[in-house]
Amino acid sequence: MRILITGGLGFIGSNLATRLSKQAHHITILDNLNPLYGGNKFNLHDANLDNIDLIIGDARDKELILRLVKDIDVVFHFAAQVSYIDSLNIPFEDVEVNSVSTLILLESIKKLNQKTKIIFSSSRLVYGRILQTPVAENHITAPLSLYGIHKMVSEKYLEIYQRNYGIPYVIIRITNPFGIKQQMKHNKYSIVGWFMRMAMEDKVIKIFGSGEQKRDYIYIESLIDAFNKVMLNNECENKIYNVGAGYSIKFKEMVNHIVAIVGKGKVEHIEWPTNYESIETGNFEVSLQKLHEDTGWINSCTFEEGIEKTFKYYKRYYEEYF
Ligand SMILES: NC(=O)c1ccc[n+]([C@@H]2O[C@H](COP(=O)([O-])OP(=O)(O)OC[C@H]3O[C@@H](n4cnc5c(N)ncnc54)[C@H](O)[C@@H]3O)[C@@H](O)[C@H]2O)c1
Repeated sequence: MRILITGGLGFIGSNLATRLSKQAHHITILDNLNPLYGGNKFNLHDANLDNIDLIIGDARDKELILRLVKDIDVVFHFAAQVSYIDSLNIPFEDVEVNSVSTLILLESIKKLNQKTKIIFSSSRLVYGRILQTPVAENHITAPLSLYGIHKMVSEKYLEIYQRNYGIPYVIIRITNPFGIKQQMKHNKYSIVGWFMRMAMEDKVIKIFGSGEQKRDYIYIESLIDAFNKVMLNNECENKIYNVGAGYSIKFKEMVNHIVAIVGKGKVEHIEWPTNYESIETGNFEVSLQKLHEDTGWINSCTFEEGIEKTFKYYKRYYEEYF
């Protein structure tokens, strides 16, 4: 297949590109390497570069997108303003990258080839405050951040273009992914990577409040398995799926485990900053039944195994990620 991955130098995109490049696919990566996010050319160090074209450019560039989607079978649309905290500070960047770029992609596909499938990386944050766990895909969506709203707008665009033009889509609502090739430059998102760095540098890791809040952390390999399965399975078209580990652990357990595996770092509890508390969703635990029933996918990696693999990777390639 001919596959376009927007945001393909980032954490999720590059892990997927690496996997797909070793199969018989041809991959085009589009990434603007905006320093706020996790794009990193080193992320392709173990990919089969014979099967990858790398384009440094912007997912908001209409002419470029029109050129790139020509003859493409599947688009993984991952380019994003990824920080839900920042979405309130840079609202226009957020709406442009998280919503308008999806519309640009859809308009290009509408013009060129309406059979092109879009696989979109949405987020657990479209649900907002959690009323019932485990969270199934039909849980109420009431986002508490602009990031969540703009991801949901993209989901709605995909549904409308499917209804009107038949353009197939799959929406994946990701929980908290972690693992190799994740950015560790700042703590605005991908907190597991940031805490791993803090521990490796023997620094103090600050936990807001008591750290009792539960999260579902999925290791990157399992997430890539899920993307691979929904790409190949036509049953998945025009559906929304949660993807996560399927079980949650307390925030403080996550931190304590990282510190234990790394063998360095200290933990300190501090007050919640006001801007975080207003968008805190409460405990999160996801139902994976729909994805499992449609594709047979199961989460193949525990949190503990994932942390060990992640630590091994950063011990080896530490200097490539700061
Ligand atoms: N990391 C998470 O916690 C998480 C959780 C749920 C959903 N997601 C979604 O998964 C997707 C991938 O996120 P990630 O974790 O790999 O983050 P990442 O920061 O590692 O990757 C995002 C990539 O998009 C690129 N990018 C940003 N704006 C762009 C633009 N205008 N044009 C072209 N490229 C652009 C960045 O350079 C970066 O390489 C995003 O859509 C994100 O919203 C991430």
